[in-house]
Amino acid sequence: MNNIAILVENLNYKIGEKEILKNINFKIKKGEFVGIIGPNGAGKSTLIKIIVGEIKNYTGQISVNGKIGYLPQVQTINREVPINALQFAKMGAYKKKVSKEQISTLLKNVGLAGKERQLVGTMSGGELQRLSLARALLYNPDILILDEPEAGVDQMGKARFYELLYKVKEKKNLTILMISHDIGMVFEKCTSVMCLNKTLHCHGPTEKIKPDELKILFPDFDLWLRAKNHYEREHENGDI
Ligand SMILES: Nc1ncnc2c1ncn2[C@@H]1O[C@H](COP(=O)(O)OP(=O)(O)OP(=O)(O)O)[C@@H](O)[C@H]1O
Ligand SMILES: [Mg+2]
Repeated sequence: MNNIAILVENLNYKIGEKEILKNINFKIKKGEFVGIIGPNGAGKSTLIKIIVGEIKNYTGQISVNGKIGYLPQVQTINREVPINALQFAKMGAYKKKVSKEQISTLLKNVGLAGKERQLVGTMSGGELQRLSLARALLYNPDILILDEPEAGVDQMGKARFYELLYKVKEKKNLTILMISHDIGMVFEKCTSVMCLNKTLHCHGPTEKIKPDELKILFPDFDLWLRAKNHYEREHENGDI
């Protein structure tokens, strides 16, 4: 278990009679950057909620080796609540004492220098997402789990966020597990990919996952490939 961050064995989960996850088995090694992909309703968020301990009535074994930092799918932030970036980030420390300086440094590292006093309600989607990352990092996790962190962020913001994640991962030696609908980004940045649709269809190093396997899972995979090729043609000068 020494080099394993997460071990899932014979996991099954039902809601009433409906099977949500069926016979899931996998290992994630420390330091991996895993992208979880799959269509809407595939059970991706459910799997993560089980790993973080939010859902308990499953069958099977889950072993987690380290502290988890978690960014849930929908940022349930009430924009009306008058809370600033500093206070929001501070919640990530739980009971641990952190100084203003520590938080300021962290905000600077996620590209939010000088935004300590800005009200969270006035922040853009991309800023809020980076602030949530800062909050999760304050907890000093070994494993970072993110559920569609790039939702609502433009292509440029996404690329920046992935870049930031990669840097943090290298610096802190983190294991990252991330759900995403951006297959292009997943294949570009993640070290391994998991394709989930109730069962685990494929799981392996990014370069070993074949497009044919994905076609079964994503009926519109061809469409995505075409869009991606088009995008790359339009941005050939490295101008992401
Ligand atoms: N509390 C619940 N009651 C009933 N069904 C639920 C509940 N939570 C989730 N489900 C069902 O479980 C299935 C998996 O949901 P989940 O949120 O894990 O999917 P997902 O892969 O994260 O989808 P998305 O890409 O849309 O976020 C869906 O069919 C969903 O309707
Ligand atoms: Mg989800």
